[in-house]
Amino acid sequence: MAMTDGTLRCPLGHSFDVAKQGYVNLLPAAARFSADTAAMVAARADFLAAGHYAPIAESLAALARATAPTPTGGDPGCVVDIGGGTGYHHARVMAEFPGHEGILLDISKFAARRAARAHPRISAVVADAWDGLPIADEAASVVLNVFAPRNPAELRRILRPEGVLLVVTPRPDHLRELVEALGLLRVDEQKDERLADRFSAYFTKVARERSRSTMALDHKAVPRLVGMGPNAWHQHGERLEERIASLPEPCEVTVSITLTAYRPLV
Ligand SMILES: C[S@@+](CC[C@H](N)C(=O)[O-])C[C@H]1O[C@@H](n2cnc3c(N)ncnc32)[C@H](O)[C@@H]1O
Repeated sequence: MAMTDGTLRCPLGHSFDVAKQGYVNLLPAAARFSADTAAMVAARADFLAAGHYAPIAESLAALARATAPTPTGGDPGCVVDIGGGTGYHHARVMAEFPGHEGILLDISKFAARRAARAHPRISAVVADAWDGLPIADEAASVVLNVFAPRNPAELRRILRPEGVLLVVTPRPDHLRELVEALGLLRVDEQKDERLADRFSAYFTKVARERSRSTMALDHKAVPRLVGMGPNAWHQHGERLEERIASLPEPCEVTVSITLTAYRPLV
């Protein structure tokens, strides 16, 4: 696509205006999704700004630096984040790649608005990660996917043969203390295995890091954490407030994730 006068145009004649907040919406007008709401995205932005997930962003940036292809002149390829939310992790990774452009895709326009301001080299697009991605074949040298949906066939299509895909998934004991005390959604015990199955036709695993640490959350941070993800659709109101009030403060909460690097099968 080419940009002219604030409008993106594709060779087939479709055009998409850039919103005044700096993102492009590629969702079909009739599409209906349960995208993250403004309140969920605001909760995520506040939670991440407090640095609770900074160790995840640091691990992601370090593995991206270690596994990304070395530019050999010419177009270095983009750094793409699928389901990138507010752009928090993407912006940290972009700092490692000063010559690359970034594309962040998210189904929530509220997330895309924030992401468009997250880093000067990130372009934010509203689109559905389950659909065909609005990104050219082999345009990306690095693809990120952090706690977000993923379509392996499309991720493979947009990644260069020498590129790297970095995926962060929660482990079954992620946020364990809050899952038990507040009745939050549980992580599937087989999540890593199911991911490996779905990826095996397209990618080969080249690195895997499992990390477990704790974060100390006060009573303002806990509702932000609950409200920034899928629990927001199930947990709210006075009952949640009462349960949070009965937690110790600060509340020690487990952060337990798997970070995996994949190369495309060629
Ligand atoms: C748990 S959040 C993670 C956001 C970000 N990766 C982070 O870690 O801060 C999941 C994100 O995926 C987005 N999302 C959910 N379904 C999607 C879809 N079908 N296509 C694109 N994005 C989607 C949500 O809007 C949300 O921003």
